[in-house]
Amino acid sequence: MELDLVVRNANLPNGQKGVDIGVADGRIAANGPNLDGQGATEIDATGMLVAPPFVDAHFHMDATLSLGRPRLNQSGTLLEGIALWGELKPIQTHDEIIERALRYCDLAVSQGVLAIRSHVDICDDSLLGVEALLDVKKKISDYIDLQLVAFPQDGFYRSPTAEQNLIRALDMGVDVVGGIPHFERTMADGAKSVRALCEIAEKRGLHVDMHCDESDDPMSRHIETLARETQRLGLQGRVAGSHLTSMHSMDNYYVSKLLPLIEEAGVAAIANPLINMVIQGRHDTYPKRRGMTRVPEMRQAGIAVAFGADCVMDPWYPLGQADMLEVAHMGLHVAQLTSRDEIDWCFGAVTETPARILGIEGYGLEVGCNADMVVLQASDTIEAIRIKAARLFVIRRGKVIASQPRQITKLSLDGRPDSIDAADYAPTEGA
Ligand code: FE2
Repeated sequence: MELDLVVRNANLPNGQKGVDIGVADGRIAANGPNLDGQGATEIDATGMLVAPPFVDAHFHMDATLSLGRPRLNQSGTLLEGIALWGELKPIQTHDEIIERALRYCDLAVSQGVLAIRSHVDICDDSLLGVEALLDVKKKISDYIDLQLVAFPQDGFYRSPTAEQNLIRALDMGVDVVGGIPHFERTMADGAKSVRALCEIAEKRGLHVDMHCDESDDPMSRHIETLARETQRLGLQGRVAGSHLTSMHSMDNYYVSKLLPLIEEAGVAAIANPLINMVIQGRHDTYPKRRGMTRVPEMRQAGIAVAFGADCVMDPWYPLGQADMLEVAHMGLHVAQLTSRDEIDWCFGAVTETPARILGIEGYGLEVGCNADMVVLQASDTIEAIRIKAARLFVIRRGKVIASQPRQITKLSLDGRPDSIDAADYAPTEGA
C-alpha cells in the first residue's frame, strides 16, 4: 500500500500502544503494528499519545481577542459583559473582526483545535459579525471546521429585530440555530423563544445549540422546554443545551426528573468550566456556588456532555489560550471527576464527544477517517491533561500544519528521560 505519512508506535486514547497510523490521500489508510511505509514521511511517536484533534463545542469568535476594547469588565458579571459587548459592536469593523478571528484560528491550530462551533451575534442589523465569520469560515476551511450558530445575544424577542436577523443569518449560510431564553424578559417569553427557534430548526433541517439557563436561578426551566420541544419536533441528536448553569442550583428532586427527560430527548449538554467558574455565583456571599452544570450526574444518566472554551480575552473572560486541555483540566476540578476513568472521560469531553455533538464527519483514528490528529508529549490521556501536554505535531488531512519542539520541563510519571533532542521528533522525508 502506498502511504504518504506514517505516524509510528503511537499510544492511542483507547489505551492501545505501539500502533502505526498510515495515511494516504488525506485519510487514514491503515492502522496497526509494523506498517510498511516505504517512501512515506515518518513521525516517530514512540510512547506518545496520538489523538484525534481537539474540538471546541462552544466559542464566541466574533468577540475573541477584543479584551479592553472599549474598556474592561469591572464587575466580572455576565450582564456587564453583555453591556460591554453592546458598546463594542457599533465601533468594530468587518476587517477588525476578521483579523482577530484569524489570529485566534492560528492559535487554535497550534493547540490542535481543528473543529470549533462558534456562536455569532445576530442582533446588530448590519450582521457585520455574520458576514465576517462566514468569510473566516471559508478562509480557514483547510485547517479548521468552523460551525456558526446564529446567536440572538440581546434576546430573540427582547431585541426588536433579532427574529428577522436570525432568519437572514441562516439564509446567508449560518449553520445552527441559537437562542438565549434566560435573557428574555419573562420565563414565558423564554419558553416561547425555545419553541419558535426549534420550529425554525425543524423546518430547515438544522441543529440547535442554545445558551440555556445560564444563570444561578434555581427556577430557570428552559432546558426542560428545550428537551420537550426536541421530542415534539423529532430533533433528537441535533440539539445541545449550552451552559445549563442553573442546574447547579436546582432542587435535587426536580433534577432527578429532568435528567431522564434530557437523555430520552437525545439533547447534549455543553459546559464551559473556565467561564462558568468566573461568571456564576457573583451574587453569592459564602458559601459561593460553583455554578457549573451537573456534569457527573449527566454522564451517569447517559447524556452526552462536552466541555467548551466559550471565551478567550473578550468582554466576559480576560484569559484563555485555545487550550482544550486547560478547559478539561478546569472541568474535572470543578466537577470533582478525579478517578482515572473520570479523567480519561474528560479527555473525551474535548475530543470525541463534541465531535459527535457537532456531527463532524470522518472524525477519529479508524481506517477511512480523515487523517487529522495531534501528537501529544504525554503517554496517555491523563498525563495529557495533567501537564497540558505540548502539541508536537498537528496533522490535518495527512499534512503537518503545526509543530513545536519537545518541552523539557514537564516530567513524565513513567520517568522517561526528557533529554531527547527535539530534532529527533522532526518528520523525516522518505525514511
Ligand atoms: Fe457562550
